[in-house]
Amino acid sequence: MALKLRKLSYALGAEVCDVDVSRPMSETDFGEIYQAFLDHGILLFRNQDITREKHIEFSRRFGDLDRHDALPRDRHPDYPELLLVTNRPNPDGSPSDSRYTGRQWHTDMSFTTRPSLGSLLKCYEVPEVGGDTLFANMYLAYESLSEGMKKLIADLHGIHLSGTRKIASTTTGLPRAEEQRRINPPVAQPVVRVHPETGRKALYLGEKVKRFDGMTEEESKPLIDYLNRHSIRPEFVYRHQWRKHDILAWDNRCNLHHALGDFDETQRRHMERTTVLGTPSGYVVQEA
Ligand code: SIN
Repeated sequence: MALKLRKLSYALGAEVCDVDVSRPMSETDFGEIYQAFLDHGILLFRNQDITREKHIEFSRRFGDLDRHDALPRDRHPDYPELLLVTNRPNPDGSPSDSRYTGRQWHTDMSFTTRPSLGSLLKCYEVPEVGGDTLFANMYLAYESLSEGMKKLIADLHGIHLSGTRKIASTTTGLPRAEEQRRINPPVAQPVVRVHPETGRKALYLGEKVKRFDGMTEEESKPLIDYLNRHSIRPEFVYRHQWRKHDILAWDNRCNLHHALGDFDETQRRHMERTTVLGTPSGYVVQEA
């Protein structure tokens, strides 16, 4: 298969044109897709009106799938390999627990010792305007730092916390955040992560990190704030405007992403995500 690619932005991302991911695909053909995934960091597949089973089956080509034990409240009731990101109310009419998922700069499952290789998010319903997702290229973020800064951060580890998302209601939000932190103790990850497949170095931080291992929050904050600000410079960012039946596959080892909450909450945004397990990384720390 000669893969037809269209770049999505200068920084990262490519659309894979004319591929139906639900159809049988040889190892060689998938190999081309996987190489494009490594080269571009994000792949967009438009018009994938496919079943959940096919979404899961295609995702398995990338690697073993997470069953989302770290995020049990957001798991699809019938498909543990699917994580819901939705503001559709629950069957009993209560607000969905996952309506604020992803509304901060982060990389998936960094708060575990097996952070994700990549995620494949399928769009089912999207508001008239807004609800885009931003992606930032962490290779570029690292490579554009000065040599002095690269030396300074070379051996640092950032402590990644679960349950840091926005809390809208203390009655439901607080117990959720506490449960998240109970299930997922803080995990220290290298600030500069070597991508296990490309061998390139990438910054690995985001807004789940409040301090460096061995340092206080007060000491860490100025540098974390600087690195996070630097990481999301406009020239490193791609902004995805969703269409129904888009599938976006992104590499969590070299990108951050942020789901924007800039839409009319009476309109529905419904996404379902598979999460591909990555190689072990980081270590559990006793106290955040
Ligand atoms: C996520 O962080 O996985 C969700 C992203 C999104 O809903 O756009």
